[in-house]
Amino acid sequence: MRNIDVTKYLAHNKALVDAALGKFFPDENPLFDIMYYSVESGKRIRPILAMASYEANGGRDMGVIMPIACGLELIHTYSLIHDDLPAMDDDDFRRGKAAAHKKFGEAMAILSGDGLYAYAFDLFCKGEGLAAEKLAVVRAVSEAVGPAGVVYGQMLDIGDKEKLPKTMRRIHLNKTAKFIAVAIEVGAIMAKAPKDRISKLHEAGICLGVLFQYTDDILDVVGVKHLLGKTPGKDQASGKVSAPAVYGVEGARFRAKRYADLTKTKFSALGEEFDIFCRITDFVLRRSC
Ligand code: IPE
Ligand code: IPE
Ligand code: MG
Ligand code: MG
Ligand code: MG
Repeated sequence: MRNIDVTKYLAHNKALVDAALGKFFPDENPLFDIMYYSVESGKRIRPILAMASYEANGGRDMGVIMPIACGLELIHTYSLIHDDLPAMDDDDFRRGKAAAHKKFGEAMAILSGDGLYAYAFDLFCKGEGLAAEKLAVVRAVSEAVGPAGVVYGQMLDIGDKEKLPKTMRRIHLNKTAKFIAVAIEVGAIMAKAPKDRISKLHEAGICLGVLFQYTDDILDVVGVKHLLGKTPGKDQASGKVSAPAVYGVEGARFRAKRYADLTKTKFSALGEEFDIFCRITDFVLRRSC
């Protein structure tokens, strides 16, 4: 894995995820089309992290991890649809096109998010065998994305206004980092990795997730709309407790670099197989979208 071109790696795996996702959207009823509208594009970071972890932990059959990786993307997409609603961040533009509520109205956007959230758990249970591992995946993901994770983080993000490091850390941890961490954990779970490694991957994943939200917050200030596929400048306009709001852009950049170094130290300690995560960390630090 050393010296791997991370851009090519991400593009290759994104294409695999895109193809797999397409197959999970049947023409069963119009709700699936509305759901797929929001799913259609995206960087696919969470599924790619799950796949990378499955492989790094010795998993061989990509058919085992792919439905789970896709399920993560459905949950992520639901969280974006709801995040953009007028009652939340009130954003019109997502993934380079009209946000779901702009395209289909608020009711349909809410329902498409609900549908994606539930459908993800169907995907987690797909296929024969590995029942204990799938149960562990369902447990870990529901904890990370529910009321002690993403949903709680979104509540804090809406309510907290004090521009304090402590407040920001709690928001970052819950709304983003726990989900990024669990994406890495599920790959390890499905590859039957030992418990102590799973907990080390969790720790490294939390660091990567915090870094991910730092760069998201920084891009909200310095990013370009057509590259981001979403509208920059919204955090400041809505008084969000973002990294630049707490530390300034330069302070946030400095801390992001420190998080990237810490993340890489943690992944490197796990051995050469995990080098891909250091490359992905560099990508997250330098990303422009
Ligand atoms: C955006 O996530 C929301 C955050 C948690 C910061 P991504 O940057 O992964 O968005 P997509 O999936 O590429 O659209
Ligand atoms: C969203 O954070 C995190 C979610 C749980 C969806 P942001 O509100 O910063 O994400 P963007 O910038 O709208 O993508
Ligand atoms: Mg938000
Ligand atoms: Mg938002
Ligand atoms: Mg943001």
